[in-house]
Amino acid sequence: MSRPLEAIGWPVRTERLVLRRATPDDVEATWQFRRLDEVSQWITRAPGTFEEYRTRAADPESLATSIVVELEGEVIGDLMLRLEDAWAQAEVADRARGVQAELGWVLHPDHAGHGYATEAVRELIRICFEDLGLRRLTAECFADNVASWRLMERVGMRREVHTLRDSLHRSGAWLDSMGYALLAEEWRGATETPGP
Ligand SMILES: CC(C)(COP(=O)(O)OP(=O)(O)OC[C@H]1O[C@@H](n2cnc3c(N)ncnc32)[C@H](O)[C@@H]1OP(=O)(O)O)[C@@H](O)C(=O)NCCC(=O)NCCS
Repeated sequence: MSRPLEAIGWPVRTERLVLRRATPDDVEATWQFRRLDEVSQWITRAPGTFEEYRTRAADPESLATSIVVELEGEVIGDLMLRLEDAWAQAEVADRARGVQAELGWVLHPDHAGHGYATEAVRELIRICFEDLGLRRLTAECFADNVASWRLMERVGMRREVHTLRDSLHRSGAWLDSMGYALLAEEWRGATETPGP
């Protein structure tokens, strides 16, 4: 399952949103928010010029991990689901391949504050655990990116690390970072409805 998004029946609908795999045609829509300083200041790679961004975002490897979030037909955000191996001792390493994933997210600032990211990420988590059978999800951000780690907490992720000045921002500053995780059993425990 090196390309987990291929295993899902898209589009996936939530109460207000549609999630679907990103295509090269989404590049102009995602550029509209990824080019903004308030967004790019937090993400791994600043978009550069539109042409550079198009080349990177339309790359099959990038599309293989990208989901777009639509509200009434408009692309308002994107999500990342990157499959990973868990750490394992050598003799059992084959059983630790592709059992977990790192998640990522970006929402157009025009649509912030309505719970859309929460709704989309909750559904992504359900997909990971129920449809893909993963055992652990992780997400990371700069500690100063409060909106991002508050989102992690809203969707039930658990803070595992708060590291000190370990991450180099493109401004030149070494910043603290946060790491969150969620296990399938934690998620099931939290989503189970109590019996009679
Ligand atoms: C991280 C990011 C996606 C969070 O966006 P967000 O708008 O704060 O998150 P949501 O869409 O879930 O909205 C939550 C807010 O809406 C409010 N809200 C309104 N209706 C809601 C609902 N039905 N459900 C949940 N929250 C709701 C919440 O109270 C919260 O408001 P608050 O921030 O004042 O407490 C966004 O800030 C972003 O894209 N940042 C730039 C990119 C980035 O940092 N990516 C991550 C890199 S690690």
